Formats: sequence, structure tokens, C-alpha cells
Amino acid sequence: MAEHRVVCWDCNADVNDPYVNNCPRCGGLLTVKIDLENVKEMKPKDLHREQIGVWRYTPFMPVDASKKVSIQEGGTPLYRVEALGKALGVPKTHVKFEGLNPTGSFKDRGMTIGVSRAKELGATVVGCASTGNTSASLAAYAAKAGMKCAVFLPSGKVAAGKLAQALFFGAKVLSIDGNFDDALELARKMADEKKLYLLNSINPYRPEGQKSVLFEIMDQLAYEVPDRIVLPVGNAANIWAVYKAIQELKEVGWISKTPMLTGIQAEGSAPVAKAFASKKHDFVPEEHPETVATAIRIGNPVSGRKALHAIYDTGGFSDTVTDAEIISAQQLLGKTEGVCVEPASAASVAGLRKLRDAGVIDRDERVVCICTGNGLKDPDTIINNAQPPIKCRNSVEDISRILLS
Ligand code: F0G
Repeated sequence: MAEHRVVCWDCNADVNDPYVNNCPRCGGLLTVKIDLENVKEMKPKDLHREQIGVWRYTPFMPVDASKKVSIQEGGTPLYRVEALGKALGVPKTHVKFEGLNPTGSFKDRGMTIGVSRAKELGATVVGCASTGNTSASLAAYAAKAGMKCAVFLPSGKVAAGKLAQALFFGAKVLSIDGNFDDALELARKMADEKKLYLLNSINPYRPEGQKSVLFEIMDQLAYEVPDRIVLPVGNAANIWAVYKAIQELKEVGWISKTPMLTGIQAEGSAPVAKAFASKKHDFVPEEHPETVATAIRIGNPVSGRKALHAIYDTGGFSDTVTDAEIISAQQLLGKTEGVCVEPASAASVAGLRKLRDAGVIDRDERVVCICTGNGLKDPDTIINNAQPPIKCRNSVEDISRILLS
């Protein structure tokens, strides 16, 4: 475990109460400061190489490995996607497929650290608000840890696979009259009253685990830093986690270059991209976010200011994509590479396509798209946008004719 302190990202005050999620002094966002002095003596080859996934990077992680709650998260493939890259006009494109985590999304990286932290604190009830994936992940890790779990979901807007997971793992699933932002407000009130330990990404331990996606990408690219990393932005913690990991690798001297972090939002749910377009460092919350990519249907992203900082500080970019562009990118990834991602994840590919067409991204750039969740999470969207099954008689001649057409 790394020595660390929790501090306020805004005013730098030390925060010692493990149950608060905002700075008691200024109300700011919290972050974890990792003491990396010992890691500076190390090289990447000194990491626990037999270990695959998040826990390979324990020198960067703020929890005691003896309290580990793990379902073997991380260790996902980084695909060199030549056919997709050619179709997009960016030949050196890679896809980091986070849909192959234990519960099918990148959330497992944050949850193994977050739930291990809850165990360290002796928490017995954990909870979160979610557009789906966080709740699926927390429900699984709470089951593994033997903790009670409550998840707050926007009613009617959670993809079927995600809802099934939360129910299956035995969480108390609460369907909230409102959207994600309303559900989060409620979960935070419950946490403030100490009714549960909150495991949304406002909890600064969650992004710590999510840093591991960047560590893994660097291992997979032999520490040759890509020019750009493109990822979908919803509640805006993941882009911040990737940024923090880059800063830490620079601090220990394992990398020197900075990839341009590029955050993509859905057009109907785009407070961060709109702030970027008007060169602002803060965003205006949106009242009625709407998109087919329900995972990122969020109007008031908790880490929005951190995300904007990450984008500006790396010389990155932010933009929106339409639902049609998202679905088209999802289908292209499937048809060219045999990779099935959920709509929110396809936003990164749609963003790459749009920004290449607009000339923001050069043809020669080495790009990594982070595809955050598995397409099987949301089968309805896939089926609604696919050709229906072909009706046929049980006849070899009829079927042969169909195959030839
Ligand atoms: N992609 C997927 C598949 C997600 O589930 C999420 C967020 C994101 C991208 C965006 O990441 O919030 O860190 O910017 N899902 C959350 C949830 C909100 O409740 O599952 P972010």
C-alpha cells in the first residue's frame, strides 16, 4: 500500500474524516495524494509481474492489500484495430476494451479499491447512485465482501443487463423518480446521515482504482506514450483518474510525454463539452439530459471541473456526438473488429471519427480509445438498431435462397 493523504483538490486542506465526500472547510472536491518517494526508486519491471490487473499497481494504490476485495478486475486487452483505424482515417488506433472486466465495465477497477477501503473502515452497508454500471459493479463487490448494498437508479432508464446484475447480486435496488443527478443527491443524503458508505466516484478512493487503466495501457505499449486518449465522459471521474495516473507516472519518471486527453459526451447530455467549447473551467448543469447512451445521461457531473482541468492541462479536447453517430460507431466497431461495446463506450470511437473528419485529430496520431463497457449490457439498443431476424421456413431450399440474396 502507498502512504497517502486525502486532501481538498480546491483548497488543499487535509481531510481526516473518512466519511465526508466534500471538503469540510470549503466544500471542494477531494482527492488522494499518494506518497511516491519509494516508487521513484522502482522501474516498471519491479511491479508484481505475475499479478494481472489493478493489484499489480499496489505501489500507487491507497489501500492495504490484506483487506483486498477482488474478483480479478483489470487485465483487459488493448486491441490494435487496423480495420477500424483504416475506416476512421487514423491507422494507428487502439481500443482498450474495458467490457471484459468481471462485471463488464471499467467500474470494477474503482470498485475493488473502493470496497477494499470500505472493508478497511469496517463498513457494513455500502451504496451508490448509478446509471447502471456502477450499481452492477458495487452489487458484485458487496456480495463478495459480505456487505449489504443499496443502489439508487433512475427509474426506467437503466439498460436491462445492468439492472439484471444489480438484482442478481442481491443489492436492494431502489428505483428513483428522477434522473441520475436526482438519485445521486439522494444517495449522498443517505451517506451524510451515515446510513451507508458511499461508493460513487465522488469518493476519492474510486478514481484511485480507475487509474490502473492508464497504468495497464502503458505496460501494454511498453511505456511508449500514445499521442491521444479518447474516452466517454459522464459523471467525469474516469478522465480525471486517467489524468491523475499520468501525473503520477511522470512524477516517478516512468514517462515524460503527456497524451492529449479527449473527452466525448452525448449531444443531449454535454455540460463538459459545452464548457470546453466556450473555454470555461466550470460547467453549467443541464436539467434534462437525454441520450441513447444511458450510461452517460448525466446533467450535473460531480467531477466536471476536474475533467475540464485534465483536458486543458494535457492540451486535449472535448466535443459532442449525436445518438446516430454513437450507434453508427458501435456498429462499425462490431463489424470491423468483432468487438461489442455499449453505446456510451462507442461515444469514444464516434468522437475520434468526428474529430478526425474535422481535422482536430491528425491522421498520424497514435490514439487509444477507451471502450468502457460491454455491449451485452444493453441488448435492447443493439436489437432496436439491427435488422430483425429473417423469418424462414424449415426448408434447405428456402434458406439457401436467403443466403444467396
Ligand atoms: N462509460 C460507461 C459504460 C459508463 O457506465 C460510464 C459511467 C461512463 C462511461 C462515464 O464515466 O462517469 O467517470 O465520466 N457510468 C456511471 C454509472 C455514471 O453509474 O455507471 P465517468
